[in-house]
Amino acid sequence: MSRSCCFLLSLLVIFSCQNESNKTMNEANLVPVDTHSYAKPLEAKVKHMSLNLEADFDQKILKGKVSYDIENNNADQIILDAKDLVIERVSIDDDQPTTYKVGKSDIIKGQALSIDINPKVKKVNIHYLTTAASQALLWLDPIQTAGKIHPFLFTQGQAILTRTWIPSQDSPGIRITYDATIKVPKDLLALMSASNPTKKNVEGIYHFEMKQAIPPYLIALSVGDLEFDAIGEKTGVYAEPALLQRAVYEFGDMEKMLNTAEELYGPYLWDRYDVIVLPPSFPFGGMENPRLTFATPTILAGDRSLTSLIAHELAHSWSGNLVTNGTWNDFWLNEGFTVYFERRIMEAIYGEDYVKMLTMLGYQDLKGTIEDLGKDNPDTKLELDLEGRDPDDGMTDIAYEKGAHFLMMLEEKVGRENFDLFLNQYFNEYKFKTIHTAAFEVYLKENLLDKYNVEVDIDEWIHQPGLPDNCQITKSEKFELVDQQIKNMLADSPINASTTSEWSTHEWLHFIRHLPNELTIEQMQKLDNTFGLSNSGNSEILAAWFQLSIENGYYKNNLDQIEKFLTSVGRRKFLTPLYKAFKENDALDTARNIYKKARDSYHSVAVDTIDELLDVKIKG
Ligand code: BES
Ligand code: ZN
Repeated sequence: MSRSCCFLLSLLVIFSCQNESNKTMNEANLVPVDTHSYAKPLEAKVKHMSLNLEADFDQKILKGKVSYDIENNNADQIILDAKDLVIERVSIDDDQPTTYKVGKSDIIKGQALSIDINPKVKKVNIHYLTTAASQALLWLDPIQTAGKIHPFLFTQGQAILTRTWIPSQDSPGIRITYDATIKVPKDLLALMSASNPTKKNVEGIYHFEMKQAIPPYLIALSVGDLEFDAIGEKTGVYAEPALLQRAVYEFGDMEKMLNTAEELYGPYLWDRYDVIVLPPSFPFGGMENPRLTFATPTILAGDRSLTSLIAHELAHSWSGNLVTNGTWNDFWLNEGFTVYFERRIMEAIYGEDYVKMLTMLGYQDLKGTIEDLGKDNPDTKLELDLEGRDPDDGMTDIAYEKGAHFLMMLEEKVGRENFDLFLNQYFNEYKFKTIHTAAFEVYLKENLLDKYNVEVDIDEWIHQPGLPDNCQITKSEKFELVDQQIKNMLADSPINASTTSEWSTHEWLHFIRHLPNELTIEQMQKLDNTFGLSNSGNSEILAAWFQLSIENGYYKNNLDQIEKFLTSVGRRKFLTPLYKAFKENDALDTARNIYKKARDSYHSVAVDTIDELLDVKIKG
């Protein structure tokens, strides 16, 4: 293993410098450096990946080989990111041996895998295995699936976890095409963020192709007892057989969403759009893996009321997957645009009143997050500084909701028509490219603000903490009616079920969020008896109601339901507020007892958060 630390250090000195804002910049092309990756793409960059893996469910490992076609700028090394992998053998071109070095391990970034090459080398091959510590992977036992008979595996790459299942240049600024061959047990189907099969085959060997270049965080794999059903011509659903028809009903408007999105912001460039419904351990609501959104089953509410999540993940096919944030500091460029776009899709299909409710709920989340973080906290800026930190720590509602409200404010300034033209042009000019916040600011000024002669303090929105005064506050007449009901109720005129029979999930959420924390146990019990909140079939309503239950001491009456929820659902957005509420209401022991039972079924991204929250030190 030949290269020394000195050499790496001198590369760092040659290729980076600091700009005024103290951000590490790349000297050659003056774009910010991704401090979360060891890769040096200006020297040698991966262009195409061929992945060949076998999923071993007995040992819970993936094993095989990854080969990269590379763009070699006269380099004598190519550097990849790797974390918690066993590297068995590395070769160049047609399997000629080469030397390599696995660097010192950083708890967040993992290790640099530096492979010795020469300026003529066009390909590198790495034979490797994943390990029990590979954070991207969740191996589920049959009992943790809907069918209870077959095991399940899924990956989660965003933000920097792809390197825990594939040695890769794991930076959002790098794009690759890929093909893959995945071998799985015969009764399971493998699916990826690529062209996908719709049926199992007898060999259990599946081939995939992703012809459009994507950043590595969007490489994804799922393996399970899965079946497919079509929604429309270009859209469909994969799920375990027990869930498939529910999912087909729930996502019935998907083709319409796709058509609407195209009408708004230009052609869909990924061919098909399918969704896979994963087991409840999936740590997110959804993940925008290209061509195949990964989704939680907790949006199967039976009434299509939670499908703005599908509009969100679909919108990422433009904002995020087509135009990608340069580094994780620019995460708001992915999520803020996507929330704005999601709401435009929802407005076109379900109308303005519907979206006003979604926007108000989002605004409430934003206010809550700013309150929790503190209005002077640098993490409330749109552009973040995550150097030295886990990027996951900075990924809050700020990027989503402050980002979306920034765009709503711009829309108001220039008018919807002009703003839509601007967005169409932006998606078109930056398609299959990366954008950093600084470049976006220049683009915004030239193509929107100067063009329409509007004055906006974009610095305040992007680089200052807190929420600017010109942030729009949406009003919802539907929510005003809910507010009135709460007032009546508190003035001793009880609400009856006929008033609420027409309420949507969103009205219920607004209702629960605005009930005072000081309700008595009797009042809570009465609400629960009248509306059956503790036994709601809607995960959002359950989560909000359970949080309130813990906050005002009612939880002893519905602890069984809370425990069932926390042990069967692994969606971090639901887990964090509930465990936190226990902790803050002198019930840390209750929280820890439940967590002990649930922890094994959660994905590492949820485990990391809750371990820290509850100060639980079980590692591995
Ligand atoms: N890309 C995100 C999920 C994500 C964010 C994964 C950061 C890893 C790190 C996805 O598009 C998303 O935002 N999901 C939301 C749902 C959405 C409707 C706001 C979620 O999972 O709650
Ligand atoms: Zn998103």
